[in-house]
Amino acid sequence: MPITLLSSPLQGFTDFRFRNAFNHYFGGIDTFYAPYIRLNGKMVIKNSYQRDLLPENNTELEVIPQIMTNDADEFLFVVDYIQQLGYKELNWNLGCPYPMVTKRGMGSGLICDPEKINHILDRVHTETDIIVSMKMRMGYEHPEEILDTFPILDNYPLKNIAIHARIGKQLYKGGVNLEAFQRCIENTKHKLYYNGDITSVAKFKEMQARFPNIDHFMMGRGLIADPFLPSMIKNDTTEYPKNRWKIFSEFHDTIYQQYDAALSGPTPIKMKMQGFWEYFSQSFSNPQKTFKKIKKANNPRTYQQAVAEILKNE
Ligand SMILES: Cc1cc2nc3c(=O)[nH]c(=O)nc-3n(C[C@H](O)[C@H](O)[C@H](O)COP(=O)(O)O)c2cc1C
Repeated sequence: MPITLLSSPLQGFTDFRFRNAFNHYFGGIDTFYAPYIRLNGKMVIKNSYQRDLLPENNTELEVIPQIMTNDADEFLFVVDYIQQLGYKELNWNLGCPYPMVTKRGMGSGLICDPEKINHILDRVHTETDIIVSMKMRMGYEHPEEILDTFPILDNYPLKNIAIHARIGKQLYKGGVNLEAFQRCIENTKHKLYYNGDITSVAKFKEMQARFPNIDHFMMGRGLIADPFLPSMIKNDTTEYPKNRWKIFSEFHDTIYQQYDAALSGPTPIKMKMQGFWEYFSQSFSNPQKTFKKIKKANNPRTYQQAVAEILKNE
């Protein structure tokens, strides 16, 4: 069965700069989900969201925008905005686990409210022709919460439901709950995508063997930690290209230059790249030492030296 690989959105990481560079140097991803748009009560699309979705910033990529809201008017406003840009689909985030979000009944804090979900989906499907897809956890408190939303979701022509097989309360701790994901498969008519902890070719194969009817897999942190992973999965190999570190180095320099040009001052670029290296370092021979070196680099010159040294040692 041919498989489709999707890049899961990571706010602060997978913006258009990362997506374009990733696609150019590594490939293997069929569709990229953009990190969520959140309006915070004002009907205004922030400049950073606008830049991220502009078609001219995403010419080589297939991108699906995402919204995080519990308000039908906000949803409709964002539908209108993305349709003007030419997008046909909007993904709805019911997965975010952070208390600041979930306490306000958004992200995974909305899964336990099928009535509100129904109201929003009803208005969106009555008042627009947007294609809606969902990205969910299985609940906030319990992995059964999603089972109570499925009868509602089954009433709408959703394109798919991507499920991160955790509950909100876990944040990113503990393991994925594969039994609960299996129950999801058995309790909805919708097409499900699997998401969660695909960090190696072996892990991917394990999930594929466990869920033989799933043919769409979404990858988030694993793809940043090892950007070669999607193409290796697609090519069914565990071999890296011979010039692995040269490719990585060029990718790194590309995103570094772009973030350096976009962010002002030495601290934001340092924090940005440090964020990436928290993941990148995981695929280096000595992750802790690698990340420590990056953290110690306090200015652009020492940062470049640290990167050169790290790459020389591989
Ligand atoms: C820093 C960070 C930012 C994230 N931002 C988003 C987001 O904007 N939208 C979303 O649906 N999920 C977001 N997620 C969740 C991931 O897309 C993904 O569902 C989760 O990390 C599990 O998949 P993984 O194990 O492959 O990373 C974020 C996760 C992290 C760690």
